[in-house]
Amino acid sequence: MWSRLLTGKKMYSPPEYMSHLIKEYGDVSRYWGPYFPIICIANPEYVKEILTKAWPHFVKGTIDYKVVGAVLGNGLVTNDGPQWAAQRRIMQPVFGNRSINQFDSVINEMTDKLILQWKAYDQEKVVQLDQEMSRITFQVVSRTLFGANIDHVADEMVEILDLVNQNPMKLESLFRLWPDLPLPGNADFRKVKSRLDQIVDSLISAHQESGESDGDIVDRLISANAKADKESMSTEQMRDEIITLMLAGHETSATALAWTFHLLSENPMVENNLREELQSVLKGEVADAKNLADLPYLKQVVQESMRIYPPVWGIARKSNEENKFAGYRIPKDSYIAISIYGLHRHPDYWHEPEKFNPSRFDSGEQQSRHPYSYLPFAAGPRACIGAGMAMLEVQLVLAKILQKFRIHPIPNHPIEPLPVVTLKQRYGMPVRIEKI
Ligand code: HEM
Repeated sequence: MWSRLLTGKKMYSPPEYMSHLIKEYGDVSRYWGPYFPIICIANPEYVKEILTKAWPHFVKGTIDYKVVGAVLGNGLVTNDGPQWAAQRRIMQPVFGNRSINQFDSVINEMTDKLILQWKAYDQEKVVQLDQEMSRITFQVVSRTLFGANIDHVADEMVEILDLVNQNPMKLESLFRLWPDLPLPGNADFRKVKSRLDQIVDSLISAHQESGESDGDIVDRLISANAKADKESMSTEQMRDEIITLMLAGHETSATALAWTFHLLSENPMVENNLREELQSVLKGEVADAKNLADLPYLKQVVQESMRIYPPVWGIARKSNEENKFAGYRIPKDSYIAISIYGLHRHPDYWHEPEKFNPSRFDSGEQQSRHPYSYLPFAAGPRACIGAGMAMLEVQLVLAKILQKFRIHPIPNHPIEPLPVVTLKQRYGMPVRIEKI
C-alpha cells in the first residue's frame, strides 16, 4: 500500500506521483494520501519560506517522523523545538568541515577493504551493488562514530536499522506507535529495539570509561557535551543521537553511491570523462579530502546523480498555524510534503530534467538557477548536519572504485526507484564487476 498509486491508466510511486501533480496542477496541490490529505509543495520560493523564515511554524510532528522516532528516539532528525535547538548547538561543531575532513583516511581504509573483497570475486559473479554500498557506508559511519572495530555487532546492527528504512506509512510500521500493544510484529520490534539500545549503550560506556580520545564522533560528542554545562545531554539522549547518526548517515550515502554507479553505466561518455579526470589529477594515487577541489567533475557527477535520484526524496512538515501559498489557504495542522524529487525534475527550473548531465552543475549554470530548486540535503536550520561528510564519503569511494573497476549492470534487470525513507532500488541492483 502507498508504494504505488494508480492514476488513470498509469501506476506511480509517490515521488513520481508528486512530479505528475506538478505537471498537471502546478506547484501547490492537495491529494488524498493513505490516511489523510497531503499538500504537496514544489515551488522553490515556498519551500524557502517553509524551511528558512517560517520554519518554527512548520514542525516535524507528522506521523512518519513519529514512526521513525520509534527506533531513532529523540535524536536530531525527529526532535523539535528548544530541545532540538540545544542538541543541534552541541553537535554542530562536531560536523564542521575541518573536523569531518579528517575522516578521509577511514573512508579510504574501508574502501580498500571492499576493493580487496571485490578483487577476489570471480568476474562472472553477480554482485548486489546496492547491498555492497550499504555495507561500506555502514562500516564508514560506524568507524567514524565509534573508532575501533565494531565488526562483531555490525551485521546485527544493519539488520536492526533496516527495520526503520521501511515505508513509514505502511500499516505494520504504524503499529510501532503503540509498541506495548499486542499488535502484529510489536513483540519482535520491542526485542530488536532493546537489543539495539543495549549495543549502543555499551559502546558509549566503553568510550566514557576508557577516558582516552581517539577523535571519533562519540569521543567528540562526549567532550562537546562536557563543555555544554546546563544544556548537556543525558545518556539516553546521547544514545538516540548516535542511533540517529547511524541511520541517517548510512542508507542515504549508500543510495547516492548505488544510483551514481547506475547512471554512469547508462552514460558511458560521462563515465569516460570522469575516469579521465581521475586519471589526470590522481595518476593512480589515492584521493584525500584536499584533492577533491581538483576534481570538479567528480563533484558535478555526484550532484547530478542526487538531482535525478535524491536519496531523501521528500520531507514532511506539519503546519502549526494557517498559511497561504499561491493563493491557496493551508489550514493549521496540515500535512505538507516538500517534494525534493519533484523540485529536482521541475520543468521550469531544469532543461530536459530526465537527462543525466553533470555539466548543469558548472558554476556558471548553477548561479543562474533558483538555489531552492536543488535540495538533496534540505536547507535552513534543519538542513542535513552530515552533508559535508556525505559528500566527502561519496566522492572518495567513487574515486577509488572507478580507478580499479568497471561496473556492468545485468542486462534486462529492471531498475526502478523504491521510495521508503530513502529512494532505494525496488529490485536491487545486481551487477558484474570487471577489474581494470
Ligand atoms: C547522501 C547522503 C545524505 C543525504 C542525501 C541526506 C539528506 C538529508 C536531508 C534531506 C535531511 C533533512 C530531513 C528533514 O528535514 O526531515 C537530513 C537531515 C539530517 N541528516 Fe542527512 N543526508 C545524508 C547523509 C547524512 C550523514 C552522513 C549524516 C551523519 C553522519 C546525516 C545526518 C543527518 C541528521 C542528524 C539530520 C537531522 C538534522 C536536523 O534536523 O538537525 N546525514 N539529511
